Amino acid sequence: MAVHLEGKSLLTLADLSPEEIRYLIDLAREVKRERHEGIVNRRFEGKSLALLFEKRSTRTRAAFETAFGEEAGHPVFLSQTDIHLGVKETVEDTARVLGRMFDAIQFRGFKQETVQLFAEHSNKPVYNGLTDLYHPTQILADLQTVLEETGELEGRTLSFVGDARNNVARSLMIGCGKLGVNIRLGAPKSLFPDEESVEVARSFASRSGSEVSVTDDPAQAVSGADAVYTDVWVSMGEEEQSEQRMRTLAPYQVNDELMDRTGNPSSIFLHCLPAVRGNEVTSEVMDGPRSRIWDEAENRKHTIKAVMLATMLAPSELPV
Ligand code: CP
Ligand code: NVA
Repeated sequence: MAVHLEGKSLLTLADLSPEEIRYLIDLAREVKRERHEGIVNRRFEGKSLALLFEKRSTRTRAAFETAFGEEAGHPVFLSQTDIHLGVKETVEDTARVLGRMFDAIQFRGFKQETVQLFAEHSNKPVYNGLTDLYHPTQILADLQTVLEETGELEGRTLSFVGDARNNVARSLMIGCGKLGVNIRLGAPKSLFPDEESVEVARSFASRSGSEVSVTDDPAQAVSGADAVYTDVWVSMGEEEQSEQRMRTLAPYQVNDELMDRTGNPSSIFLHCLPAVRGNEVTSEVMDGPRSRIWDEAENRKHTIKAVMLATMLAPSELPV
């Protein structure tokens, strides 16, 4: 069946079929090729994009803003301190108004419920640029990077070590489960992902033929990994837990020794960034030969452009 995403939102990868996710990655690779070859298009001409941020961002904001602007679209950055979101005006009412003025809306913030409300009430495609629960656009870039590096996704193994109950880990489980990538999570028991998320990911994985496993042994988690992935120990909004996290997560730092425990000389290192050097990962690994973090960061832009193209344009207007 042909992929048709026009008019759709991206709130979590759980809502997309494996074919739709795979299509977005293929489209991202095509727009990456165009950009590297200096091909300029104006596919967002006459369109506008609202960029709502309750939390800080470097990559996600820059990716949405440049990907949209360089194709003649008009992105408008609206931070929480600029607009009435949830203050004096309900989220639903803000969504209704922005839906009348913009062609699409990106939201980064705390509650998944907020991005859902935007999708329900704006009548326009809405993109989740990160909530406490999910970070779907990140995982598209991660999967693109693994695909580019290893030549395929099915049957590959990605190990996530660190705070395995956070938004990135939860979203990785879904994306990997959908596309046939084995995912192994290594975390202290107190930071294991919730049972429901694991079960949901396992249901996707059983259909794609991959596996989801969780262990508190970091060496076991990375054994045989094609990619080792980590994220900050303290996500945005959880700052008061910093001290405890440093203690609990110290044995889960990704360093050269842990990378060697993959037993796979071709294994790569991934991180969604921003990274706290010396906490979840050493500078040796970040700047070392196995690191692909800058490619991964660049791929945020291409995957985000792919999501916007596929959801704002008709299939006949798309390059693949
Ligand atoms: N990876 C990521 O989402 O980065 P930013 O927080 O800088 O957007
Ligand atoms: N888990 C991190 C991801 C940042 C891109 C956070 O939510 O802060």
